[in-house]
Amino acid sequence: MSTSLRVGIAGLGTVGASVVRLLVRQDAALQARTGRKIVVTGVSARDPGRDRGVDLSGARWFEDPVALAASPDIDLFVELMGGDEGAARAAVETALAAGKSVVTANKALLAKHGMALARLAERKGVALAFEASVAGGIPIVKTLREGLAGNEISRVYGILNGTCNYILSRMEREGLSFEACLADAQRLGYAEADPTFDIDGFDTAHKLAILTSLAFGSSVDAEAIHIEGVRAITLDDLRSADELGYRIKLLGVAQRTADGIEQRVHPTMVPKSSAIAQVMGVTNAVTIDADAVKELTLVGPGAGGEATASAVVADIADVARGIRSAPFGLPTATLEVAARRPMQRHEGGYYIRLAVHDRPGAAANIAMRMAERNISLESIMQKSAGRGASGASGAPVQVVLLTYATTEAKIREALEAAVGDGYIAEKPQVIRIERE
Ligand code: HSE
Repeated sequence: MSTSLRVGIAGLGTVGASVVRLLVRQDAALQARTGRKIVVTGVSARDPGRDRGVDLSGARWFEDPVALAASPDIDLFVELMGGDEGAARAAVETALAAGKSVVTANKALLAKHGMALARLAERKGVALAFEASVAGGIPIVKTLREGLAGNEISRVYGILNGTCNYILSRMEREGLSFEACLADAQRLGYAEADPTFDIDGFDTAHKLAILTSLAFGSSVDAEAIHIEGVRAITLDDLRSADELGYRIKLLGVAQRTADGIEQRVHPTMVPKSSAIAQVMGVTNAVTIDADAVKELTLVGPGAGGEATASAVVADIADVARGIRSAPFGLPTATLEVAARRPMQRHEGGYYIRLAVHDRPGAAANIAMRMAERNISLESIMQKSAGRGASGASGAPVQVVLLTYATTEAKIREALEAAVGDGYIAEKPQVIRIERE
């Protein structure tokens, strides 16, 4: 193959502009590595007049990304617009239907329509590549799909959202408010256009849905994911976690169990000594448990222009080389439609923070409600607000419990019973513990 690869790029935001810059900077190296010259022949973006600091004089401007996707002047369509419907979906479908390979960073689109798009790519004999959709610059898609082909994977979990990890890290280290940290993440270009996608866990869930399919050879099933974000995490939780030897991270976890695949996104207590606990700031990390390799953790930049562009350019290079892997690692017809293990059946340890009315019998009552369901307590810590010699201040006190492994259903039942007994003043805070 010696002809040029003609690339059309839709979306010239932080990532799109970085892709153009990287293609220019690595032009000679990419040509040497792939045997082809890679040329951007078409672009589409909202504001053609904006200075993006990149030279686009050689590329034709398209107002409509779908027209770019259909253009006979491109061989490969790169979608960097985002959004699970609308122009992004229409343009990707158009490109694939026209027999052009597609490279995308669009995790929301893949989580929702990944199976249909993979089937279309398969029918047309073209590539659908999405390394940049999960964990920014970390080559996790290739690692799962190609690098670990000789393994049976039992669990994949990770910090998949740079914005949330940045917020939690700064709250923990600097005692700053959630809002102040989020504003900084937005200013630094880490957050999604709508940051609720980050902080409410949806961005992590989209990425987890893709990882689960790649890890287990199953159909993408984003609707099966239990999702909780980081809004409810307080400085008190971060301090208590620290005292107990843990850090709090927003994790996406997918696990194969005897009852099916469990997929969940929620704030998680991880032991401070674990590899994942060391990951601070916008950095992402993914840990894979597999039979041959045992445990593998990949750590790297999870967001930001250049890091994400690195993954996009790697996919472009694959297309230039003529590499076309099955998007989710197997022919779509052979992907398993796996049973879903519901969250109520989740098994693990729990951190529970309660605001308790400071009356005799309160702690005993809560312990009793746990014991009735065979929940064993690893530790119990009461944080007294300080009160007079009479022994009654009236204000609720914080009680933090750690449990040994139990089930979600038992924890929820015990807390409901304890709340009904009248000792608990506010909605209990529940954070699951993830062991290495
Ligand atoms: N908003 C995402 C994050 C960007 O914070 O990780 C990368 O998908």
